[in-house]
Amino acid sequence: MSPPRILVTRQWPAAAEAALAERFDVTFNEEDIPLGLDQMRQAMAAYDAVLPTVSDKLPSSIFEGDTRAKILGNFGVGYNHIDIAAAKAKGVLVTNTPGVLTDCTADIAMLLLLAVARRGGEGERQLRSGAWKGWCPTHMIGTKVAGKTVGIIGFGRIGRAFAQRCHFGFGMDVVFFNRSTIDAAEAARYGARQLATMEEVLGASDFVSLHCPGGAQNRHLMNAPRFAAMKKGAFLINTARGDVVDEAALISALQGGSIRGAGLDVYEAEPQVPEELKSMENVVLLPHLGSATEETRTAMGMKVVENITAFFDGREPPDRVV
Ligand code: DGY
Repeated sequence: MSPPRILVTRQWPAAAEAALAERFDVTFNEEDIPLGLDQMRQAMAAYDAVLPTVSDKLPSSIFEGDTRAKILGNFGVGYNHIDIAAAKAKGVLVTNTPGVLTDCTADIAMLLLLAVARRGGEGERQLRSGAWKGWCPTHMIGTKVAGKTVGIIGFGRIGRAFAQRCHFGFGMDVVFFNRSTIDAAEAARYGARQLATMEEVLGASDFVSLHCPGGAQNRHLMNAPRFAAMKKGAFLINTARGDVVDEAALISALQGGSIRGAGLDVYEAEPQVPEELKSMENVVLLPHLGSATEETRTAMGMKVVENITAFFDGREPPDRVV
């Protein structure tokens, strides 16, 4: 029997591509640019499995026509770019890659927190432009991190890893909001305690860091009223998904001075980033680097291979979403 035909929508780390090619008849998207909707529709009709990433869009219309593909092995943990209900209705199974990107994404959140607090981006720009005039007691004064309160929205794997870093690594007080109740002893293992409402967390925190999934359920969770509920002069960190933040409301809060800065890795319309954000010195902007390490990206690819191998062997894929 000929091996299943697989389409990989973007370039992967070499070791993961090799592992995939060992077992399957693989087509790689040599151009390494996101597929358009028509190309995605054609791919779903022509291949036994499609392996997309966050940069691909799979709305309900993708699942309307003839689909040969029976599985989408998403390269990434977040899957808000896939209409999960439509995939399920069509009988297309979806898998993701949880666990392997926890540490690296928590590291990027920490990097952003430190960069906004200590004005890292601004300082680097000043030095590179030649504008630095040397050390003086009042030069580029930032905010001390130790002893401050960080509020985490979403206490899943990445939220916990970030809490651990903030509390045990940087001496911060950690509170969090999570829709379901987390056992207090479990939260304490990460140096954190749960508050009853999101507003309580926003009002108590010097830094608010988002760690919840994107998609319809959390779209614009951070909106104008929630920015108003933040402690005056606090900072927002987002390494979750761009659509969790109403970017227009964020820009107003920054322009009005009710919050002091933001550190962002994700955006509402990636790769577009609003010019207002780019022009603000108190905003640190990264190009969706959360999982971008050699080790993690390879591990993500290996997880996809594991999931689709299980599927084509007739076993339950370990990271099945629907
Ligand atoms: C993820 O895995 O969800 C990362 O954001 C990269 O897609």
